[in-house]
Amino acid sequence: MTLRIVYSIGKGGVGKTTCAGALSLQSARSQKTLVVSLDPAHNLGDVLGRKLSGDVSDVSPNLWAAEVDMDAAIARYLDASTQKLKGAYSYLKTINIDGYLEAMKLSPGIEEYATLQVMEELIRGAEGRYDVVVFDTPPTGLTLRVLALPRVSLMWGERLTGLRREILDRRQIIKNIQGERKHVIDGIEHTLAADEKSDAVMGELREYVDRMRRLSATQADGKISRVMPVMNPDSLSLFETKRALATLRSLGMTIGPVLVNKVGVKATDEQSVRDIGRELGLPTRTLPFSPVEPVGTEALERLAGSVDFGEWIPGTP
Ligand SMILES: Nc1ncnc2c1ncn2[C@@H]1O[C@H](COP(=O)(O)OP(=O)(O)OP(=O)(O)O)[C@@H](O)[C@H]1O
Ligand SMILES: [Mg+2]
Repeated sequence: MTLRIVYSIGKGGVGKTTCAGALSLQSARSQKTLVVSLDPAHNLGDVLGRKLSGDVSDVSPNLWAAEVDMDAAIARYLDASTQKLKGAYSYLKTINIDGYLEAMKLSPGIEEYATLQVMEELIRGAEGRYDVVVFDTPPTGLTLRVLALPRVSLMWGERLTGLRREILDRRQIIKNIQGERKHVIDGIEHTLAADEKSDAVMGELREYVDRMRRLSATQADGKISRVMPVMNPDSLSLFETKRALATLRSLGMTIGPVLVNKVGVKATDEQSVRDIGRELGLPTRTLPFSPVEPVGTEALERLAGSVDFGEWIPGTP
């Protein structure tokens, strides 16, 4: 069976991690499940009552978990990008590549790209090994930017591929007139590629565009990916969920039902849940507010007892 992916998404503190944990425990009753926290401020281990690390460790039969070290992931991403750039542009002495790479560390989007890379690696590593991967995501803003990246990057990648093609066409024209010219830099001979097959930059671009295309297809395939929006019965949570759902829909992601957590504190909560369902145009499921903190697998199983989390697992019969 193909790997299925669930994203637990919501505003800070609504219970994303708690619900990701509860879903994972239910899922693990019948399928191999991996739950991963991508939130830089981890508490998945606290919720499951286990010490977790960046390496996958087993929690109970059929359930594995990890808390990704996001700082290390960002450092790894920067390092890999640096090596690639240095390799591709080793002949360019006119631009200060080290200065550029230094600035890249501070440039916007790095955290998003690093998070996307981690997700991609986890998904690839999970194929054939697990049936279900559950992502406990960082707060909404960052998560939405990460999920939008494949689509946005795909557009950029296609544009850049077109530009590169124009450059190569011009090089080809010059080559036809002047013949093949060699450039010697620091005693090393370089020839500038003029066709797509031998151009390293074009190779990189192609690979990148393919990756982004695969990622956005995976996200938009309702048989593979599904979002579990988690919220509380209050208006701030509703406003944020509404905005988030608009973005997720525009990415073609399959959503729902909406999980309204911590219900029953206010007398108006039941009415709020009905309003939420109507306002968001999605079915709702509720989890009660628990008088004892739902920490540890037993407390989670008890809390989750009334909800069938299988509804959020794509393709579950
Ligand atoms: N149904 C519930 N009843 C009582 N307490 C709950 C319930 N769900 C979650 N909590 C508590 O609310 C707090 C926040 O939950 P949790 O950490 O799961 O939220 P989160 O959305 O992952 O937060 P963050 O944005 O910080 O990652 C925790 O103390 C958790 O134990
Ligand atoms: Mg959390």
